[in-house]
Amino acid sequence: MSLHILDLVQNSLEAKASKVSLNVVEDLAGDLLVITVRDNGRGMSEGEAKSVVDPFVTSRHTRRVGLGLPLIDMYTKLCDGRLEIQSQQGNGTTVKAVFRYSHFDRPPLGDMVGTIRTIVIANPSLDFNYCHAVGTQSFSLSTREIVEALGDVPLSFPDVIVWLGEYLKNNLARLYGGVTDEND
Ligand SMILES: Nc1ncnc2c1ncn2[C@@H]1O[C@H](COP(=O)(O)OP(=O)(O)OP(=O)(O)O)[C@@H](O)[C@H]1O
Ligand SMILES: [Mg+2]
Repeated sequence: MSLHILDLVQNSLEAKASKVSLNVVEDLAGDLLVITVRDNGRGMSEGEAKSVVDPFVTSRHTRRVGLGLPLIDMYTKLCDGRLEIQSQQGNGTTVKAVFRYSHFDRPPLGDMVGTIRTIVIANPSLDFNYCHAVGTQSFSLSTREIVEALGDVPLSFPDVIVWLGEYLKNNLARLYGGVTDEND
């Protein structure tokens, strides 16, 4: 799933969003995985928002088909879920993908640490918020808070990249109730 998440954030960036929020909810009690990406980009008209799960609808010019949303739509349906797109032209877009958590075909979340780190490091001026909940535990991170805490040190500074990876890894391990291996 992490690559699809990257796709969704990429769509937001292509829509010129300055603010993107990613929410991942592993609702164990409700047996749901809900991934939501909200942005303040250019948005879509009602018709556009309805038609984007059709692979032949795309605003890209290098290739005639867009694959991001149709694929995610297909995966959600395969897993007793759905893809919801809410958008308003000029006001941003919210894409919500719902899966049955325990469904046999549900793709694993994959490398969330690498994905989040890539988004943050590659887009230092993006106001990016990430919130991840597993059961009753949750964790959140905001690029703006990190940038403020860093002061003059740029996000791309090698030590910062290493720290961010460790920070994400430890917090995600905590969410899953795991112990982190210091030597890992
Ligand atoms: N967050 C968004 N804001 C505004 N428009 C969007 C957003 N996400 C998707 N779209 C519109 O929906 C179209 C289809 O998106 P999709 O991700 O399926 O394909 P793509 O981005 O065009 O191509 P690909 O993802 O394969 O590179 C986009 O071309 C864009 O016009
Ligand atoms: Mg796309």
